[in-house]
Amino acid sequence: MCLKLKDDKYILGIESSCDDTAAAVINNGVVLSNVVATQEIHKAYGGVVPELASRAHQQNIVPVVHEALRQANIDKKDLSAIAYTQGPGLMGSLLVGASFSKSVAMGLNIPLIPVNHMQAHILAHFIKSEAQTMPEFPFIALTISGGHTQLVKVSDYFKMEIIGETLDDAVGEAFDKSAKILDLPYPGGPLIDKYAQKGDPHRFPFPKPKVGPLEFSFSGLKTAVLYFIERETKADPDFVSKNIDDICAGIQFTIVEYLMDKLKNAVEETGINRIAIGGGVSANSGIRKALKEAEKKYGWKTHIPLFEYCTDNAAMIAVVGELKLKHGSIEVTSTLSKARLKF
Ligand code: KG4
Ligand code: ZN
Repeated sequence: MCLKLKDDKYILGIESSCDDTAAAVINNGVVLSNVVATQEIHKAYGGVVPELASRAHQQNIVPVVHEALRQANIDKKDLSAIAYTQGPGLMGSLLVGASFSKSVAMGLNIPLIPVNHMQAHILAHFIKSEAQTMPEFPFIALTISGGHTQLVKVSDYFKMEIIGETLDDAVGEAFDKSAKILDLPYPGGPLIDKYAQKGDPHRFPFPKPKVGPLEFSFSGLKTAVLYFIERETKADPDFVSKNIDDICAGIQFTIVEYLMDKLKNAVEETGINRIAIGGGVSANSGIRKALKEAEKKYGWKTHIPLFEYCTDNAAMIAVVGELKLKHGSIEVTSTLSKARLKF
């Protein structure tokens, strides 16, 4: 059975891939609400505990969706489609969002649109905002999150090619694991950023791993930080607290310079100098500053997401749902017909 879409389309986005339960409503590219419940429970464990994450999603999902509808000032009956994160992510967490979305879509008899989380981090740039210009195709996307580090050639909304990625840890892990060595709470990325802004980036240099021009490797950096801290704290047990700003500045400087080196290689190899970043680490002040400088230095056109669309959120899932409805080769069928959606 084919569904006729309502004229004024309100798309509900649902994101539950890791430790944020999020819901958002979008209408014609404009975000009407963007609600995120961050799960604080993981702080006590120094990282995300998958079983606790899926339980917290179960507790949060109904109130978060209600709040997103309330802020958007619409009723669930006004929804035209539901877009949800299909993957990648933690299985138990994804299942909560997927089963919730499927049942609501079925109950309302509206289309259900599965969305790839990493594609959503890239397409978040197509959320309408007065403060931002949308990237022109083709562009290079650098996706930098807690689970991924990828260079992607984006030729169209749904024509994307991964041209480079990490061989081991993701860049967000490099931040978070280094922070853990410094006894900072999870997630440590934003704290490294905070201290780094007051520190000297050149006092404690860290090595940049040598891999292929479009590849990344971060596990060596984490080990270098570990050995450095072990050595220095043997000589002075208060070394970390006395030097936290400079240590964080050194780590951040190394990571940002490394990401910029890879972007330079990608521009050289593809001839494309329009760059868009996405994922939690794109909130980092160092990478944001370096990209702005690259506009002047190399003539690049750079696109940096608003802070609310850097870390995990459902507005980016909703915008992909809307783009799929508008531009994708999507066959919209009823969830009741048990037919799979094609994209
Ligand atoms: O995209 P995201 O919210 O979740 C995943 O899909 O992984 O990214 C989370 C990651 C964490 O590793 C977190 O420490 C990092 O983004 N992050 C930052 C900053 N804000 C978030 N890393 C460095 N500087 C920041 N300001
Ligand atoms: Zn993410």
